[in-house]
Amino acid sequence: MNSLRPIGIIGTGKYVPERILTNSDLEQMVETNDEWIVSRTGIRERHIAAEHEATSDLAYEAALKALASAGMKAEDLELIIVATITPDTAFPSTACILQDKLGAKGAAAFDLSAACSGFVYSLATATSFLQTGMYNNALIIGADTLSRITDYTDRNTCVLFGDGAGAVVLGEVPQGRGFKSFDLGAEGAGGSLLKLEAGGSRLPASPQTLEDKKHFIYMNGREVFKFAVRVMGTATERVLEKAGLDKTDIDLFVPHQANIRIIQSAMQRLELSEEKCVINVDRYANTSAASIPLALVEAAEEGRMKEGDTVLMVGFGGGLTWGASVLVW
Ligand code: ACO
Repeated sequence: MNSLRPIGIIGTGKYVPERILTNSDLEQMVETNDEWIVSRTGIRERHIAAEHEATSDLAYEAALKALASAGMKAEDLELIIVATITPDTAFPSTACILQDKLGAKGAAAFDLSAACSGFVYSLATATSFLQTGMYNNALIIGADTLSRITDYTDRNTCVLFGDGAGAVVLGEVPQGRGFKSFDLGAEGAGGSLLKLEAGGSRLPASPQTLEDKKHFIYMNGREVFKFAVRVMGTATERVLEKAGLDKTDIDLFVPHQANIRIIQSAMQRLELSEEKCVINVDRYANTSAASIPLALVEAAEEGRMKEGDTVLMVGFGGGLTWGASVLVW
């Protein structure tokens, strides 16, 4: 990867909807309590999209900020990838809807579906395009509106998710900086542990699928938890090795924000202190593809990275999938 031109992040932006749903709000909706949610997940509140907001609207707000921070005009964009599992529509893609909203005329645009790993998958995809010179810049957005596919009568899942979008602009950066390695993978055999069954070609929408609540997220939490702890560790070790680094080189760890206990187990394995880890699961919950970029962008806004810092992002999600990357800021 090092012989190719260096590609890194040249602009960042994020957006979360205004409405906040707290644990005590959820206590009024299902049989749960703040103590259970905080001790099992670390989540205290999450943002929920307004009725008029769809995934492309969240993505649009984040994209505007990322473009402004990169000092770029939308019409100069060459590639747009939206990582999402809650597209506005099955087609056109959310990336195409966003391309039109932004006025990024002529930019290639597509969605990428890898659930919570989607942002890292998209970074790897775009970096490959840019390194080879096929494109010169890219807008990458992780955006999800999980509230639209969450059953707010199911306490097993409804406490876990929130809505949001995080965006970055990728471009050429000085030698020595940018993305150093990626580790992407999938275990399709575990797909049934985390799924949305209906609405596709296997089980089209029908009165029966609605009655059976098959348009909502189904999750086997315990099994996904075990998978998460395992792959967060293995993917991190592999991506560090590919970059020729080890865990002591990490300046900032940006994990998928699904559950504080999963994050803590990764921190222990990497022997990382809290100052080196970005944690915002308490305020946003699990926002799927938006989770890692929201954490990364927030850390950038708070000035937690300085030039030359080694940033490690790692996530896991439906598929089952995982994705990790090493970036020199
Ligand atoms: N409030 C109160 N009690 C609850 C709640 C709730 N909101 N939810 C579940 N419980 C109960 C369960 O019914 C169970 O009761 P029982 O023992 O009487 O059956 C009990 O609490 C314990 O349930 P467990 O499943 O053992 O709880 P666990 O400690 O495993 O925590 C959790 C559950 C938080 C879901 C955890 O398993 C987890 O975080 N898993 C990973 C989920 C994840 O990261 N998903 C990411 C992918 S999302 C994507 O890709 C879109």
